[in-house]
Amino acid sequence: MYEPKLICAALEQLFLPAADKSLLAGLRITITAGPTREAIDPVRFISNHSSGKMGYAIAAAAVALGAKVRLISGPLASPLPLPAAITPIMVTSATEMLNAVLADVGDIFIATAAVADYRPLAPATHKMKRDANGMNLTLTPNPDIVATVAALASPPFCVAFAAETEALKDYARQKFIAKKVNLIAANLVGGLEGGFNRDENSLWLFWGSGELQLPLMPKPQLALALLQQIALLYYPS
Ligand code: PMT
Repeated sequence: MYEPKLICAALEQLFLPAADKSLLAGLRITITAGPTREAIDPVRFISNHSSGKMGYAIAAAAVALGAKVRLISGPLASPLPLPAAITPIMVTSATEMLNAVLADVGDIFIATAAVADYRPLAPATHKMKRDANGMNLTLTPNPDIVATVAALASPPFCVAFAAETEALKDYARQKFIAKKVNLIAANLVGGLEGGFNRDENSLWLFWGSGELQLPLMPKPQLALALLQQIALLYYPS
């Protein structure tokens, strides 16, 4: 059961003004959400705390604003509601997520997923036995999905997220430059408010010539505000 505040925020999307309902009409938007899992052996994996709530909220808001949405989702700990117009493409690992994204990336790509930066180099085919001496795991870097998309010959408008526990603005600006995206949405994670597995979040948005702070609010409302800023940058007047 979701918090009443979250249910109200989601309901608000159903009663948007007519102008907003066509804000993203005709656009194809690919969104990644949730965590990836990287196999250690058939029963263990490396992953993180992403619940998928932020990415699913962006997908639902994009549909409410008239877009055609492809949602590529990592495995969720608990199912999340989605509008009937969206059938998520479920993947497990970062490599699977990359392949699903590249199959049809569309006009705008929003990388909300918490993709594991590394995967075990050689996952075991059978369950690894406990070793009283401990164990070493060799990790190899995963492909950077959003940077790969931004480097395509004809890239879509690319939006990355930055999940940080400190120096939010500095690290986000570094990622904005390193990943060569059009916009980065930075959030603090690991604290008492917002971030992973919460119904509310706040974001700092950075793009080439500006920045905007979106204060703490339910993720469905935050998703609408983020998409409104994306539309302003995608259709400069
Ligand atoms: O799912 P929730 O519980 O609602 O939580 C939401 C969230 C905290 C997961 C979300 O708001 C968020 O911050 N998502 C990005 C998490 C993350 O992986 O951040 P990062 O700073 O490590 O990565 C930067 C960007 O690169 C992200 O857009 C990420 O999707 C992308 N990336 C990272 C690694 C990789 N191998 N490929 C990528 O595309």
